[in-house]
Order: sequence, then structure tokens, then C-alpha cells
Amino acid sequence: MSFGKRVSGGNAAAPGKPVAPASPSPEVKPKAVAPAPKPAAPAPAPVPAKVKPPEAPAAEEMVVSEKSEQYYATKTTVFNALIDTIDLGQLAQLDQESAREEIRDIVVEIIAIKNVVMSISEQEGLLDDICNDVLGYGPLEPLLARDDIADIMVNGADTTYIEVDGKIQRTNVRFRDNAQLMNICQRIVSQVGRRVDEASPICDARLLDGSRVNVIAPPLAIDGPTLTIRKFKKDKLRLEDLVNFGSISPAGSELLRIIGHSRCNVLISGGTGSGKTTLLNCLTGFIEPGERVITCEDSAELQLQQPHVVRLETRPPNIEGSGAVTMRELVKNCLRMRPERIIVGEVRGPEAFDLLQAMNTGHDGSMGTLHANSPREALSRVESMITMGGFSLPARTIREMIVGSIDVVIQATRLRDGSRRIINITEVMGLEGDTIVLQDVLTYEIDGEDADGKLIGQHRGTGIGRPKFWERARYYNLEQDLATALDTLEEAA
Ligand SMILES: Nc1ncnc2c1ncn2[C@@H]1O[C@H](COP(=O)(O)OP(=O)(O)OP(=O)(O)O)[C@@H](O)[C@H]1O
Ligand SMILES: [Mg+2]
Repeated sequence: MSFGKRVSGGNAAAPGKPVAPASPSPEVKPKAVAPAPKPAAPAPAPVPAKVKPPEAPAAEEMVVSEKSEQYYATKTTVFNALIDTIDLGQLAQLDQESAREEIRDIVVEIIAIKNVVMSISEQEGLLDDICNDVLGYGPLEPLLARDDIADIMVNGADTTYIEVDGKIQRTNVRFRDNAQLMNICQRIVSQVGRRVDEASPICDARLLDGSRVNVIAPPLAIDGPTLTIRKFKKDKLRLEDLVNFGSISPAGSELLRIIGHSRCNVLISGGTGSGKTTLLNCLTGFIEPGERVITCEDSAELQLQQPHVVRLETRPPNIEGSGAVTMRELVKNCLRMRPERIIVGEVRGPEAFDLLQAMNTGHDGSMGTLHANSPREALSRVESMITMGGFSLPARTIREMIVGSIDVVIQATRLRDGSRRIINITEVMGLEGDTIVLQDVLTYEIDGEDADGKLIGQHRGTGIGRPKFWERARYYNLEQDLATALDTLEEAA
């Protein structure tokens, strides 16, 4: 046969099994080679009869690409022939373009030799699919190319869900088998120098575009490798966008601006995917350009626009289990870096103590997010993080610390219609006995539901004439703006 082993030079690695190239090319950006579905029109179509039906009772599948069983069978045949022919090790040394060209040429020959009958467009689709499998993230590519998807959730080879517009939908994307899925997971995590296998079945990683990835593999994940991707949004949502979506009212956003400008210490609380990080990113927009800001994150997601920002990221342990750098270590180190504000991406452990201390000791305007379902729960979570962190402080002392450091808690939530809303802006007033006193400045109230199941509601003021941060606002010359915002909220009430 004339084709194959075209890539000459270098060490002649044995023809590979369908595994990831030894050193995956860094250029595996989800290039829209395939006619990727337009972000704006993810029109859900009914499940075609040919697509393997889901095992579980599922709602309507979102058809990402319509392919028949016949197509998959052909693809497997061509793919196997390609793998027998091509030298993956050497392919990995080529740049994306040349590697694609190489694969194209060989696939075209295989199709001719094997007498596969295909239309030109089917052949183009097959070429793209195979290139994606060999060089990129396989069936994930069309999903990664779309900017309207917030999360991709792969539960084993046959089941992939996506979140679009706050709603989780099943797709018809599937992998050849769990081995292919595992190879793709491996390819993803190896880019950040990690490994995922039976010995270390849990792994956090990041795609080159910044998307956050978690992999949990068998035997821990019972039904096959499970991959979760929080897609990085190139165009981060801004506060105006949140206002346009109705996540916050214009007067509410004015309140957020004043809170940000007047350097209140803020905790953003909310459930998973409720929009905490997005909100934190918006709030950081009000930091003055001259301030020295230090951000600490598990996976750098924030995009601060200010010039004087130092970004820090935690590090998981290496394969031998050493070298981990925790959030607590980062936050502690921050304090030696002369920060003016400290931003903690997600507070989930003993670093809560250090963040409160920072807030308490002249780093006004520090911020963090945490998982909780209400402002009150957020504060009790802070308390238990400190208690569980091994600080043997009496509960009252911890509460005094909380009251003395956190000014405002902002609660984000994802409502049942999929929309994300800010549902409380709450002030921490003080301690009464052993109880922390909170005061809502703004709440979101649901008034009903429209014919399409969308919730109707309004952000309302709570009749507070002078919130506790009034003095701060005055100090920053924002007293009048605050009064106006509060009046507007009151009118809505
Ligand atoms: N107000 C909003 N309206 C519409 N979409 C939003 C809104 N806020 C956030 N999103 C989108 O929702 C997704 C999740 O947002 P984000 O990462 O901010 O959530 P999170 O609460 O930080 O999640 P996690 O708990 O996983 O860290 C993102 O794709 C983001 O663009
Ligand atoms: Mg987040």
C-alpha cells in the first residue's frame, strides 16, 4: 500500500493504538473546521430514529450533529485503518494544519481503497470527525466551539449533557467507547502535566482556553469516565448584561456599584453555577485602577481590567502526592505582598480565617465567593470553615470576627426557569447576644409565572433609609447616588 508512515524523520515510534499523541500539540484550539452549529440558534430537534436511544428516560435530545449508525460503523472502520497506518508519535510533532492535511490525505485514500460510498459532504464530515478524534477533543469539539454552552457534562461514552440558557439538556454526542473518552480525558489533563487513571482517578485541569475541567474515572465513577467542563466565556458578562437579563434591576446594579466603589468587604454566596464568579468579576470592575489587587483562585477565572493585579492560583499535589499549595497558603502569602484588596475566587476551607483577618486589618474592599443558599447560611458556613480548620476559638469570637469584617453578603441563585438572579443584598449589622444580625437592603420577589414558564418578579427595596454602609458611601462621595438608588428601589416595592 502506498499510503501511510508519511511523516518521515525522527524516531520511528511503533504504530500507535488509538491513544493520545505523546506530546499533544498545544494548538488544539477548537477550530471551527466542522460547520459548528451557530451559537445563536441551538434549535433543539427531535431525536432521529437512527440515533441510539438513551437508556434513561430523557427529555428531548439536542442534536449536535445528525449521524446514522452506518456512519459510525464506517467511521470506526476508517479510523482503525488510519491508526494502523499512521505514526501518531510523529504526527504529534507536526503543527495542526500539517497534521490535518496528513490525516486528510490518508483518509481519502482509505475511503477510495475500501470502496466506501459517501457523499462529498459526508466525507467532509468524516474527515473533520476523524481529525478531531486524532488531534483534538473528538466528539467534544463541536460543543467546545460553541460559546452559548455554559457546562458540558459527559457521563460515560454514551451520555453527554450540556447547559444552555440555564437549562440542562441531553445531547446526541457520544464517544466510540469509554476507552476513547478516557483517552480524551487523558489528553486534556496531560496538557497541564497531570495524569488520570485507575491509580489517580480524580483530576482537575484546565483547557487551553481557560475552561475548568474535572475528570473522575472508574472505579470511582461507576458508569464510565465522567468529565465536567465549565466553559470559559470569552466575553465575560458585565453588570450591564446582568441588568439586561433581569438578574438585577438598574437600581440594584447601582447599589452594587456603590458597594464596590466604597470598598465594602463582600461575600458572594450562591449554589453551584448560580453566577457567583461572574458577579465577583463584575464587582471587581469597580476597583480603582491605582489599587494593588491580589487574586487567589483554584483555577484562574477572573478577568480584572485594572493594571495592578497579581494573580495567584493554587496547585494540587503532583503524582507523588507532594507539592500542593493550598488556598490558605496563598491567602496568607497575600498578606505579605502589600495588597490593597484581596479577592478569593472561592472560599471553602480554613482560608476563611485569613480572609476575615485581611478584611479586618485594612484590606477593605476584599471579596470572595462561597457556596451557600442564603446570606445567613453563608455566614454560618464561614463559621464552620473556621471551626473545622482547627482554630480553637470560641463561637462568639468567630462571630465577632465575622461581624467585624464582612459588610455585605450578596446572594445569587439559579431559579427553576433557568434564569440567574441576585436575590439578596444583605448587610451584616452586628451581634445581638450570640446572634449575628442581618438586614436585607434588596430582595427579589417572585410574583408569578408567564405562559412560557418564565418567572416574573421584581427587585425591591426593604424600606431601609440608611444602610450601615451609608457612612462609607458618604466618605467616597457616593451618598447622593445611594439615596437615589434606595429611593428607586423603594418605588418598586
Ligand atoms: N446573571 C446571569 N445570567 C445568565 N448567565 C449567567 C449569569 N451569571 C452567570 N451566568 C453564566 O452561568 C455560568 C456559571 O456562572 P459562574 O461561573 O459565574 O457560576 P459560579 O456560581 O461561580 O459556579 P461554580 O459554583 O461552579 O463556581 C457561566 O456560563 C456564566 O456565564
Ligand atoms: Mg465559580
